[in-house]
Amino acid sequence: MSPLRSSAWYAGRGRDAYIHRAWMRRGLPGSAFDGRPQIAIANTASDLTPCNSHLDEVAEHVKRGVWEAGGVPLNLPVVSLGETQLRPTAMLWRNMAAMATEEMLRGNPIDGVVLLGGCDKTIPALLMAAASVDLPAVVVPGGPMLTGTFRGVPLGCGTDVWRLSEEVRAGTLSRDDFLASESSMIRSRGHCNTMGTASTMGLLAEALGTTLPGTAGLPAADSRLLAQAHESGRLVVEMVAQDRRPRGLFTRGSFNNSIVALAAIGGSTNAVVHLLAIAGRLGVPLTLDDFDRIGSAVPLLVDLQPAGRHLMEDLHRAGGLAAVLREVIDLLDPEALTVAGRPLVETLDTARIWDREVIRSRDDPLRPHAGIAVLRGNLAPNGAIIKPAAASPHLLNHRGRAVVFDSIEDLRARIDDPALDVAADSVLVLRGCGPRGYPGMPEVSNLPLPTKLLRAGVRDMVRVCDGRMSGTAYGTVVLHVSPEAAAGGPLALVRTGDVISLDIASRRIDVEVPDEELAQRTPNEATLAGFADPHRGWERLYIDHVGQAHTGADLDFLVGRSGSEVARESH
Ligand code: FES
Repeated sequence: MSPLRSSAWYAGRGRDAYIHRAWMRRGLPGSAFDGRPQIAIANTASDLTPCNSHLDEVAEHVKRGVWEAGGVPLNLPVVSLGETQLRPTAMLWRNMAAMATEEMLRGNPIDGVVLLGGCDKTIPALLMAAASVDLPAVVVPGGPMLTGTFRGVPLGCGTDVWRLSEEVRAGTLSRDDFLASESSMIRSRGHCNTMGTASTMGLLAEALGTTLPGTAGLPAADSRLLAQAHESGRLVVEMVAQDRRPRGLFTRGSFNNSIVALAAIGGSTNAVVHLLAIAGRLGVPLTLDDFDRIGSAVPLLVDLQPAGRHLMEDLHRAGGLAAVLREVIDLLDPEALTVAGRPLVETLDTARIWDREVIRSRDDPLRPHAGIAVLRGNLAPNGAIIKPAAASPHLLNHRGRAVVFDSIEDLRARIDDPALDVAADSVLVLRGCGPRGYPGMPEVSNLPLPTKLLRAGVRDMVRVCDGRMSGTAYGTVVLHVSPEAAAGGPLALVRTGDVISLDIASRRIDVEVPDEELAQRTPNEATLAGFADPHRGWERLYIDHVGQAHTGADLDFLVGRSGSEVARESH
């Protein structure tokens, strides 16, 4: 076995090794620096990331496993991103969290890392960091919360907030009843229990091979999560001994498996930007079109909100991710490995479906085709996406008059104006919400419907936006339009009254304006005023370097990996 990376800090009898050991002792025995792997626990626990606030307890169990296997566990609190609390959007900080974590892993005497995440952006940021620093790494997803109920009915985190708040606006639910449900939604520790982004990214981390098989989807309150955390601590020590690193583990086949899983579970559209960004860090050539090519014909097998009825606790009870993947095993890459060293497909042998209401069989899917559709056209030359399974069948092929909003403020000011010239067949357009324009690409693409239409019974309209959409949301929403309006995309040129055509079968999204006329248009002042222009700090750096959605919205100078080498000593 080659010398441990940490031996560059701790080995020897010189002054520098003395300093490194002495300051770390604080109760650690001398043997801690005598060739034992130093394992960081990159921990996103934070009171301001409530979905991850239990991760300190998970970390304690990881530590036990690390000690047991002969390693030295080291708690490494890293930037944490709370989806519901952070303004202007947690996505603005994903790349910063990834960069900070990468640099702390590289700069410290670390041989391997266990990544503790949960809330939406935390697992993507941790995986991006681990991919770039290329140290042996295992993910322990923090797990979903238990099902909360209100007046005898389960409440799905996120999805039911959107649904109930629309009912209030439609006048079919009182505000008092809506507010009475508030204390019932979050029943326990853990992240959102619908198939939102956190659930999706936890499950995709496992499909990608980055978790100990059988870990993702375990409810946060389930004691088996702590046992898996313990085993993950043991595993990472073994990975260090065998030099099992991300660049050797995660291949094109691993991403193929993630895309198949994304479709079969009916996962969040946010997974598209996250998987593209992680692949970019690994140097795996993944493109937007791969999601359509690999995933769009995969059947939807999981009946979870927002596409279906159940919640994550039900999915675990019904057999979990392994049972889902076993149904589509012929679509999986047989050679793609997991961190445990075996191909993913070999871990599925004993998986069974225990409740076919929650996990459907391949010959009785919830929907025959579930994946992401990638659209192109003169509105989205570099692509846009839509999740047909979350869309209304009658809108999958639609032409309508555009009603354009230049910013989220413009939308809020006018959407409920009784004088707004809008009809059920209009196409609502919101721009200025891309990575640069907002900044950070917020989850606003499922823009609210006008109250007057809600009250008339309308529950879905075609919406087009350069932002993202919560994984817990639903509707006929064309999102991630690229290039975004603030990056010179044609979305900036659409005017209220233009006709927009959406044809999902032929994968087109177009504005019916002749090319010559479109080429002569320029963004109006209100459009330009809707684009962010910060003068300092992370937001400035972000805007100057962020890529577009179709490439994963990473910063240009963070794509790829630097590895774990650090040439110079600190003193
Ligand atoms: Fe944290 Fe939903 S808000 S996962």
